[in-house]
Amino acid sequence: MGLFITFEGPEGSGKSTQARLLYEHLQTQGYPVILTREPGGTRIGEMIRRILIDLRHTEMAPTTETLLFSAARAQLVSELIRPYLATGGIVLCDRYADSTYAYQGYGLGRDLKELHAITMVATGGLMPDLTFYLDIDVESGLERKRGRQTGKAPIEGRTMPPEWNRLDARDLAYHQRVAAGFHELMQREPERWRKLDARRPIDDLAQAIESEVRLWLPRVARLPGSVEV
Ligand SMILES: Nc1ncnc2c1ncn2[C@@H]1O[C@H](COP(=O)(O)OP(=O)(O)OP(=O)(O)O)[C@@H](O)[C@H]1O
Ligand SMILES: [Mg+2]
Repeated sequence: MGLFITFEGPEGSGKSTQARLLYEHLQTQGYPVILTREPGGTRIGEMIRRILIDLRHTEMAPTTETLLFSAARAQLVSELIRPYLATGGIVLCDRYADSTYAYQGYGLGRDLKELHAITMVATGGLMPDLTFYLDIDVESGLERKRGRQTGKAPIEGRTMPPEWNRLDARDLAYHQRVAAGFHELMQREPERWRKLDARRPIDDLAQAIESEVRLWLPRVARLPGSVEV
């Protein structure tokens, strides 16, 4: 059965930071756990990621974008997530299908029912047991993300540093629609989501996440030979 946990939220909200901290915590505790991300996480998925985030790909049609995200997800689910859950392990994923609804649905205006159908094909209906939403206003999140770049020399031939990608570069109104979309998704399925104020200190958030996850751990067996720390 395993345990499937995802992290969602606007750009720069701290998803990767918290996913990594939870991963390290669970590993220290002796739990079988993997950390992955979307788009990417597999060899094929990482190749698709490069196509998706390339700032030069301004001509990409919304349908292409949606299908590429879904293709990367299909590969991740079949190659990594399902097999690992089947062994009884914990899968942590930095973004997942909710991001498609928020970004391509609410952000780009794609039909949500259509996105749901595509997502069902890509995932076979696999949804997380638990999803953390790191809540921050869009401007502060983007600011944090830009802040992360300071001090790094821009790559030759690019106007922005490498992590400032094609999707980040969309306008503020787009990012605000995405954030509003996430809030609507949370309202629809409140039992799966845990919303946290992403402006809290990093360690504070990590502790809140750990205590929530602790409630789910009885369903996961520790690795042989491991001891509780
Ligand atoms: N709770 C926090 N308080 C202050 N700064 C934070 C906090 N969490 C993360 N940061 C900083 O904000 C920046 C973005 O964090 P992180 O990369 O984890 O966010 P993300 O949601 O994964 O972003 P992205 O949308 O780029 O994937 C980093 O510089 C990180 O150190
Ligand atoms: Mg990240």
